[in-house]
Amino acid sequence: MSLKKKVAVLAGDGIGPEVMDVTLEVLKKALGNQYTEFEFQSALVGGAAIDAVGEPLPKETLSLCESSDAILFGSVGGPKWESLPPEKQPERGALLPLRKYFELFANLRPVKLYPELAHASPLKEDRLKNGVDILIIRELTGDVYFGQPKGREGKDKNEKAYDTMVYHRYEIERIAQVAFDSAKMRKNKVTSIDKANVLTSMVFWREVVTQFANDYNKQGNNVQLEHMYVDNAAMQLILNPSRFDVLLCSNMFGDILSDEASVLGGSLGMLASASLSTRKNQHGYKFGLYEPAGGSAPDIAGKGIANPIAQILSGALMLRYSFGLNEVATKIEKAIEKAIQNGARTRDIATEKDRVLNTKEIAEEIIKNL
Ligand code: IPM
Ligand code: MN
Repeated sequence: MSLKKKVAVLAGDGIGPEVMDVTLEVLKKALGNQYTEFEFQSALVGGAAIDAVGEPLPKETLSLCESSDAILFGSVGGPKWESLPPEKQPERGALLPLRKYFELFANLRPVKLYPELAHASPLKEDRLKNGVDILIIRELTGDVYFGQPKGREGKDKNEKAYDTMVYHRYEIERIAQVAFDSAKMRKNKVTSIDKANVLTSMVFWREVVTQFANDYNKQGNNVQLEHMYVDNAAMQLILNPSRFDVLLCSNMFGDILSDEASVLGGSLGMLASASLSTRKNQHGYKFGLYEPAGGSAPDIAGKGIANPIAQILSGALMLRYSFGLNEVATKIEKAIEKAIQNGARTRDIATEKDRVLNTKEIAEEIIKNL
């Protein structure tokens, strides 16, 4: 008997459970006969886990992830848990530890504009006429997110708090590798984002990426590298988004630019992400965590109206990267494209003229196209 393909399903908080439910339906339909090779198992994470067992990342959840080939993640956090000490909150107590524990260093965030949704973009349509197709490669386990020391001390006027922005050569090289390999399969262009005019760690980032590119191109590749300061990149993204192909970013700059870039494509509810590990799973593919880039959206949670597309696309990325099922992944992506072409819209991407679908209805429109 062949090994099961095991997926840990961590729906989490807010809109997480509702978009996860329909995503599992879409995956089931898309996988067809292959569905029986899979085992989807759910576990508690985030605020839901705090409420049930008192901690955001219970041991049982971590061991389920350990024994799985991939993690399909919803979202965590919400006002209910915001008054807890920061390290006990869903984000810092569950999501960041998961990223670190599984060395999920490479975060891929594909930003694509569906032409039919150009109206939902905050940009004037003529800025979008050349399309938007950007792959953000965000380093995910280093930088000021995890750098030591961090802390608080002192008191009164001298009370202070600090974080440390730090990058090791190996961390920059391995994320550059992902960016250049990705560019090779796209338009052969990497824009590396830094703040080398101010920060020592970012001078180093630029140096290492430059050296990496030279070595990479000596091996018969031809990937063009440009460097851009993060503040300028934030501006260029809204002035001329079609100039970008692959954006190579450190953890924090990638976090910020990916939210900005996501709305170029219409809505944060459309931005999927794959966080790939240094580890392989038992099927020989990369272990990874797949999650929408947006948050738990507590304001609309429980109403069944959230846009599930980012979660569904994250599921497709999981099939592609952690199970080698590129064709099934592409089938899902095409089914979403077609649903959008046919006018399927949740409220975040609808205009006044559109009929607004809820989470289940738009999933049904997608399933019809599979
Ligand atoms: C993201 C999120 C997270 C981050 C938060 C929830 C910790 O904004 O995945 O982009 O900052 O990385
Ligand atoms: Mn973010």
